[in-house]
Amino acid sequence: MKEEIINKFQNKTAVIGIIGLGYVGLPLMLRYSEIGFKVLGIDIDVDKVTKLNQGESYIKHIPSSKIKESHNNGFEATIDFARSSEADALIFCVPTPLNKYREPDLSFITNTADKVVPYLRKDQVLSLESTTYPGTTEEELLPRAESTGLKVGEDIFLVYSPEREDPGNPKFETRTIPKVVGGHTEACLMVGVALYQPAIDSVVPVSSTKAAEMTKLLENIHRSVNIGLVNEMKIVADRMGLDIHEIIRAASTKPFGFTPYYPGPGLGGHCIPIDPFYLTWKAREYGLNTRFIELAGEVNTNMPRWVVGKIMDELNKRGQSLKGSRVLVLGIAYKKNIDDMRESPAVKLMELLQEKEAIIHYTDPHVPNFPKMREHYFDLSSIDPTPQNISRYDFLLLATDHDLFDYAMFQKYAKLIIDTRGVYLKSFENIVSA
Ligand SMILES: NC(=O)c1ccc[n+]([C@@H]2O[C@H](COP(=O)([O-])OP(=O)(O)OC[C@H]3O[C@@H](n4cnc5c(N)ncnc54)[C@H](O)[C@@H]3O)[C@@H](O)[C@H]2O)c1
Repeated sequence: MKEEIINKFQNKTAVIGIIGLGYVGLPLMLRYSEIGFKVLGIDIDVDKVTKLNQGESYIKHIPSSKIKESHNNGFEATIDFARSSEADALIFCVPTPLNKYREPDLSFITNTADKVVPYLRKDQVLSLESTTYPGTTEEELLPRAESTGLKVGEDIFLVYSPEREDPGNPKFETRTIPKVVGGHTEACLMVGVALYQPAIDSVVPVSSTKAAEMTKLLENIHRSVNIGLVNEMKIVADRMGLDIHEIIRAASTKPFGFTPYYPGPGLGGHCIPIDPFYLTWKAREYGLNTRFIELAGEVNTNMPRWVVGKIMDELNKRGQSLKGSRVLVLGIAYKKNIDDMRESPAVKLMELLQEKEAIIHYTDPHVPNFPKMREHYFDLSSIDPTPQNISRYDFLLLATDHDLFDYAMFQKYAKLIIDTRGVYLKSFENIVSA
């Protein structure tokens, strides 16, 4: 009965099950726990589950003390999917990557769903939070939920609610980021809203799970296309001898109708380089091509090559070649002030430089050792960026503009700095924008 489950969310007696305790699932667990819900976390990664049960965080910006506090409120992590029947809500926060053909890989969602189906029971709500194309909830979760004989919208409830996050941005937290929710039926939507209302200040209901899925993609495509545009503008400005960052600062003084986006050495992170292609793939089923998405993808993917071209030109002017030159990459996380390396353009730059036989080192206060990554490997640790160390390199490649860097010191001691982030506002002989 929907009234009973809604009641449980309102009086906080519901058990919240979170499946996938990563960058999305873990903060959500903490939020429900801090407001007094008992949370059960389910993950397939034994190491993560063990660490969490020992009160340790494995995400840098989440302190272990918070995990310990959540234990006091009843939080437990497990790899045992049979325990999913203990939860009144099952919130799916599992990855949605692309496969090697750049097509959606839904296997994490479908594997998770297959694992919980045997334990589904009456009066549970399933909420999918993973980013995906419109139709996923209806096409993948609905038939699996119905295969149990439970009636969706009466016995069991199905919603889609996309995650929104801006890692490293201290202005927003889970509670203050409005949350869009779509339900499979009107009753599903009511239950979905009741699930999120205690934890989130503003819950935004939409007409269907498909509408909620499309909302998330619009948000990310909007970013990807605008970043592609400004990256293209950067190349044009550079050829014309103009500084794109000066232009963006000036344009940003327009009080209406302009939103600044910033160019860089390429796109990074788990979302913006990947999610738009979920729509591209699905649109083909409708006989449509998503040209803006493809074009932005092309421009953004080519940025690391463009940066390397600029480096080669600059070294050439100085009578040097990339081959054999010593480079220190400043910042390898995908964006400033975080330790997340996923899809980091710095890694792509390092690979391109390695192809050209440059000798590469890096420094990153947030990434002490180059982590294990599925497709990339460098046996490197962050070097200490002392004046003496800095002066040993032929050039520094400023890939990620962490606030912890001492930019004035770098400028003072470096032979050459390639600045891909527009950090240096004044011109110096040893600074080149790229
Ligand atoms: N990271 C972000 O900033 C962000 C923002 C918005 C949306 N998203 C979306 O949220 C989803 C999750 O992203 P994330 O960054 O948290 O990923 P993540 O890789 O940090 O975490 C995913 C977790 O799911 C676990 N997992 C994988 N398969 C599982 C299974 N079958 N059963 C149980 N657990 C399983 C993994 O072990 C991992 O702990 C993705 O769809 C992503 O696109 C991420």
